[in-house]
Amino acid sequence: MVARTLKNTDLETLVSLSKRRGFIFQSSEIYGGLGSVWDYGPVGVELKRNVKDLWWKAMVRDREDVVGIDGAILMHPDVWVASGHVSSFSDPLVECSSCHRRFREDHVETDGCPECGGELGEPRQFNMMFQTHIGPVQSDDNLIYLRPETAQAMFVNFDNVQTTTRKKLPFGIAQQGKSFRNEITPGNFTYRTREFEQMEMEYFCEPGTDEEWHRYWIDFSMDWYAGLGVRREKLRVREHDADELPHYSKASADVEFEFPWGWGELETISNRTDYDLKAHMEKSGRDLKYFDQEKNEHYVPYVVEPAMGADRSALAFLADAYDEEGEGKEQRVVLRFHPDVAPFQVAVLPLSRNEKLGPKSREVYDSIRPLFNTQFDDTQSIGRRYRRQDEIGTPLCVTVDFDTVESDDAVTIRNRDSMEQVRVPISGLVQAVSDQLEIMRKEAQS
Ligand code: GAP
Repeated sequence: MVARTLKNTDLETLVSLSKRRGFIFQSSEIYGGLGSVWDYGPVGVELKRNVKDLWWKAMVRDREDVVGIDGAILMHPDVWVASGHVSSFSDPLVECSSCHRRFREDHVETDGCPECGGELGEPRQFNMMFQTHIGPVQSDDNLIYLRPETAQAMFVNFDNVQTTTRKKLPFGIAQQGKSFRNEITPGNFTYRTREFEQMEMEYFCEPGTDEEWHRYWIDFSMDWYAGLGVRREKLRVREHDADELPHYSKASADVEFEFPWGWGELETISNRTDYDLKAHMEKSGRDLKYFDQEKNEHYVPYVVEPAMGADRSALAFLADAYDEEGEGKEQRVVLRFHPDVAPFQVAVLPLSRNEKLGPKSREVYDSIRPLFNTQFDDTQSIGRRYRRQDEIGTPLCVTVDFDTVESDDAVTIRNRDSMEQVRVPISGLVQAVSDQLEIMRKEAQS
């Protein structure tokens, strides 16, 4: 067993590893890039997909009381009037009178302009919703917004979902998808961007039970991260002060992670009360009350909302997994991901690129790839290939060598963390890989 003494890293190292190994690239890079917009590469997309799938499994498939939806990004503009986003979804913006750069007032830590020291003007409220027009004519009559949160699709579909599923309170509606915010000061890699992906769940419950559920969903989130290997000491809960609560919230708490630059929010769990359903009832004229059969009573449910960012979570998993071992030429960078978070679980590596080893290696690859996310790599030396797999956090490497084809029909499994190697017959490979991954899953939990 390997002690999980992971080295903390800086953001620059993560950005450069991400580019070098195909996790994350800057958007439109060949045109000079688009500021604070990022694309996931062949390795990063696997990581992010795992994060989303693991959340979906824990939040929807493993539970009887939560169902999913997949709402459209574009919604009726009145949704955003009712939700309060048209009037309240803004940040205080200040402009420098010398260089005319703009900043979010509450992010400025200096007296004057952080860039040139010039005088900053009076703050004004800047609405963060991106606007566009629907249809071929551009006029105020067909103005719509790119959604700034996925949550509203769950509120406006509350009645559709409740009627079609016949769920009784308490129950939740979850979805994952893109959201857009015209952030004044994006930054810190994928932490704060203008296009990002959210994983949100609205948990509808009886008024009076909301505070208990709020606590439940905070604990659920902490356990979810820790169960997937994020170190407990890198996680904390921070309750919002009254003056920082979102406009819809009675109480909010952030689950925070210690990023290379300090503590940052991964998720906000809010008690949204009946704010949204009531607002949509008023604006749309539709009755969104719930009929409680046991009590023979109609009422508007309260809502507790765990709202997580998929990109921030993926960045936290990456930062938490980063480790360096050894010195000088012997140094290796290794990402100690939980096996279910790791972009690939297994790599099949022929000892050398060779006519003799090729067909057997492909046979081994074909036998395990339906069961595990597996890479095949026969370029460069075996040492470099191990290094590459360590740097993308692949838990197990399976090596096919000359003994495999000439004598024993067995392969070597190398463990990413301990670097120990065991020889197993090809006939028992699937079982051996499953067993080793299961051991690594247990070791990763914190
Ligand atoms: N529906 C409530 C809501 O959207 P939020 O705290 O504004 O709450 C939820 O957002 C999560 O979405 C955040 O905790 C964060 O993980 C992610 N998120 C928000 N703004 C983001 C941005 N500009 N870039 C990346 N992720 C963001």
